[in-house]
Formats: sequence, C-alpha cells, structure tokens
Amino acid sequence: MSAAVSPAGPAPIVAVIGGGQLARMLAEPAAALGIPLRLLAEAPGVSAAQVIPDHEVGDFTDLTTLRLVTDGCAVVTFDHEHVPTEHLHALDAAGIAVRPGPDALVHAQDKAVMRRALSAMGVPCPRHAVVRTPAEVVAFGFPCVLKTTRGGYDGKGVWFVEGPQDCPALGSGATILAEERVDFRRELSALVARSPSGQVAAWPIVASTQRNGICHEVVAPAPDLDPELAVQAQQIAMRIAGELNVTGVLAVELFETRQGQVLVNELAMRPHNTGHWTQDGSVTSQFENHLRALLDLPLGAPDAREPWTVMVNILGGTRQTGHLYAGYPHALARDPRLRVHLYGKELRPGRKVGHVNAYGDDLEDCLERARHAAAWFAGDLGDDSR
Ligand SMILES: Nc1ncnc2c1ncn2[C@@H]1O[C@H](COP(=O)(O)OP(=O)(O)O)[C@@H](O)[C@H]1O
Ligand SMILES: [Mg+2]
Repeated sequence: MSAAVSPAGPAPIVAVIGGGQLARMLAEPAAALGIPLRLLAEAPGVSAAQVIPDHEVGDFTDLTTLRLVTDGCAVVTFDHEHVPTEHLHALDAAGIAVRPGPDALVHAQDKAVMRRALSAMGVPCPRHAVVRTPAEVVAFGFPCVLKTTRGGYDGKGVWFVEGPQDCPALGSGATILAEERVDFRRELSALVARSPSGQVAAWPIVASTQRNGICHEVVAPAPDLDPELAVQAQQIAMRIAGELNVTGVLAVELFETRQGQVLVNELAMRPHNTGHWTQDGSVTSQFENHLRALLDLPLGAPDAREPWTVMVNILGGTRQTGHLYAGYPHALARDPRLRVHLYGKELRPGRKVGHVNAYGDDLEDCLERARHAAAWFAGDLGDDSR
C-alpha cells in the first residue's frame, strides 16, 4: 500500500532516515523545488541536521521512533541501508510510501541476496558462493575476496584473501560471501533514477577510482569506454531497476574486465558517491531526480552539461587541525569554475568530509584542478599556515 501523492495539493513531506551527507545534499534541490524534508538524525548536529531544521534525533532501529518521524509524511527515503526490513514493511502498512521499498532495498542491504537475484536474472557477476567454514573457502579457491553480506561500507567488511592463512571472521556465525578476485581494468558505475510509474533516467557511465575501499575520484563520462559496453552497462542498470522495482536512485557498481566485459560488483539504492559529479556536471543531479522519483514526478534530463566532469573526494588527510573554511581563499581564487561541496564534518584521517567538481572540455585540466583543490582542502599539500 502506498500513500497517494496528489500533484494538486500542498507539497508532500518527505521523511529522510539518516543524517549523513547524502541527506544533507538532498536538502538543496528540496529547497529549490519547495519540498519539505523531515529528518531522523542519529545525533545532534550531524551533517544533514545542520541544514534540515525539521529533524528529530533518535534511533533508526526503533520502530516507535520511525513512526513518530514519518507521521504525516507521504514518503520515506534513506541516507543509508541500515533500517531493518521489518520496520520498513510496518511503515508501508501504515500508508507511508517507502522508497525504495523493502523488497527492493534488501538487495542493497545484503550482498548474498543481491548475488542470488542477479544470477537468477542472468546479469553478469563475478563467480561467487556463500561460505561458512575455512574448508569451504579453500574449496572455492584463491585468491578470492570475502565479504560480510550485511553492514559493510567503504571497504569495511571486505577482505582480500591470498590463502587459508588470511581467512577472517569465519566460524563466527556471520554469513560470508566469497567472490573470485576480478582482475579489472577499472571500476565503472551506472546510475539511474526510476519512478514508481516506471520512468527511468540514466546518467552517462562513469569511471571511479577507489583507495583502500573508499571512492576517491570519479570521471564522467568514463574515458575511452567502448560505446557498446556503455550501452550494455546502462541497460544492466535499467533492467535491475525495473525487475527489482527500485524507486529513486540506483547505483550499480561495475568492474570493467580486461576482456572488455562488465560484471556487477554491488548495488546502492540511494544517491551514491559516484553520482556526486551530477550536481554540477549534468542537467539534473542525482539528488533532484531522487526526490522527483520518490514523489512520482516527471524526471529531469540526466545529460552531461560539459564534455568532462571530475569529482574528487576531500578526505581528512595529514592535517588534523584547522577548518576546511580556511581552504576557500586559495581554492576559489585559483579556480573560479571550481564547485565545492562540504559536509559540515570535522576532519578525521580517512573520513569523507566533502568533494569538489571541476568541469570543462579538457580532461587533464579538470583532473589537475579537482585533484589540487581536494588535496588543498585536506591539507595534503604541505601548507599548514591556515
Ligand atoms: N570480487 C572482487 N574482485 C576484485 N576487487 C573487488 C571485488 N569485490 C570488491 N572489490 C574491491 O573492493 C571495493 C569494495 O567492495 P564492495 O563490495 O563495493 O564493498 P563496499 O560495500 O565496502 O563498497 C570495490 O570497490 C573494489 O575495489
Ligand atoms: Mg562498493
């Protein structure tokens, strides 16, 4: 059951669970479109709570809290994948449109469920198996990648295993997914937004670089990508969105193999780090289309505005004191076309605290500008004077 969203009535309230940077960045198009947001934040003053005045602080694993926050809202959506499935069914039964719905979201919450569904659909995936004992890992073969099926993010919960000596966490009762170690050329991402009525917008395929399991840099579109492979990647994402009945943004993380194939790594059903370039590089950002899709409004064009857009994350680096604001005079003076997005988070080594987008018609120039700015904000250029 889902709440009717009347296009003629007052703007419906959208509830967002989780106060991270994704919820924060949803606030920008929500303000522009005049759509009120109500937030459940995990602690006072977290990233999204700074910019969404209508917020409660509470526990997203507690159904009473979820009911309280979503009361009077037409739709509920998520900054992360950790809300228990049974609570989502309860909200749905109470007449709140849960987007993405619980039966779709479970494929982004549980990597074993995702592999099973994609394999049944015939979507190309790395060879994989659920393993419970070291003997089963040995039988699967080395080198391999072991993953916790639930709760991992930014490479936490992923182990690269050469042989039996480095098998972690087995025997502890956790379900572990073993995958062949893919010798990929690079990682790609296919981003689409899908509305409940089935309209889909597909952004250009991008290339992403991870460091220590954390997304570091994204180039849109993926340079030198075989046009046929790009179409295939978009079709895979559109098909997954349709068959799993995803509503909102779906990001499909992909490996491009050295043999020129694409394999699905994992799914995210929310705006995704590999889509941050769309804020400045495409006609409609992933955040705006996520909102439009939630409310079953017509989607905006996903086309790129410029030949190239480069996104580089600002990660807490060597500089552990000082404020990111102090980076502005130099960064903005050096590059008047630079777009900066900070998350209102304190610097901590390795923590995502913001990102920059640089766009233009020269890829090398965009790369240089975005990398310089991100390193400058992170304090990795050796200047501690600010
Ligand atoms: N089967 C694999 N083969 C090679 N590298 C992998 C494999 N699975 C994951 N990785 C690497 O580890 C990163 C994190 O894995 P992922 O499953 O996306 O976990 P997370 O949920 O932490 O993002 C990937 O982006 C990729 O760089
Ligand atoms: Mg991932």
